[in-house]
Amino acid sequence: MSITKESELVGMKKASEAVAYTLKAMRNFAQPGMTTKQLDNYGGQILNELGAKSAPYLTYGFPGWTCISVNNEFCHGIPSEKKILSEGDLINIDVSAELEGFWSDNGGSFILGRDFNQHKEIVDASKNILRKAIHNIKGGVRISDIGFLIETEAKKRGYKVIKNLTGHGVGRSLHEEPNEIANYRNKFNLTRFKKNSVVAIETFISSTSTYAETLENGWTMVGNKGGFVAQHEHTIVVTDSIPIVLTETNEIWS
Ligand code: CO
Ligand code: CO
Repeated sequence: MSITKESELVGMKKASEAVAYTLKAMRNFAQPGMTTKQLDNYGGQILNELGAKSAPYLTYGFPGWTCISVNNEFCHGIPSEKKILSEGDLINIDVSAELEGFWSDNGGSFILGRDFNQHKEIVDASKNILRKAIHNIKGGVRISDIGFLIETEAKKRGYKVIKNLTGHGVGRSLHEEPNEIANYRNKFNLTRFKKNSVVAIETFISSTSTYAETLENGWTMVGNKGGFVAQHEHTIVVTDSIPIVLTETNEIWS
């Protein structure tokens, strides 16, 4: 969406604070021995108390309130009573929701407890690349140039990017124009970021794979060559200079 009046900015801020607060609370609540279903129910309850509705559930009928992807799962992990979290797991939580007609999206990867499996480097790479990408976005910048920046920064650190998972416009629905804010330079995409538009910027930094494939459950995506992915996502408003980071309070950068 494009922000045309103050009330729309206020609405987007409120929806964004709800998803940011829920993401942060879920990350703090996650413990070894807990199932991803328990973690999801906790997040679902918070969204409910804030008057927000799960966006993947509303939009796609996703079987959960949030997406919780663990280790080899890249995204759209289905909360399950059978999936028990362990110390050292690489966990990604993605929370998106609708509140009073406004939609916001955010997510982040983190290591549960001590880093037994050496995931810190990829997680830090994803965080830092997201920060750099967002700081380079302003009205008039080509979407493909931000893709190039993300891929270049990933390569510099010895990583790849996932080509078929992207950021997107957001605001009046979960996924809207521009549809594909890729993590690489798509030379066919001549679209530019527009001032006052609301977009969700997300990294998909990968150890091994370059494409994500859907499992038989119809939702969860894993790598075409396995390995791990770290994702961090903020919803922002594009301006003439540094964007307004609407989901900043999720603290994925700290
Ligand atoms: Co998301
Ligand atoms: Co998103």
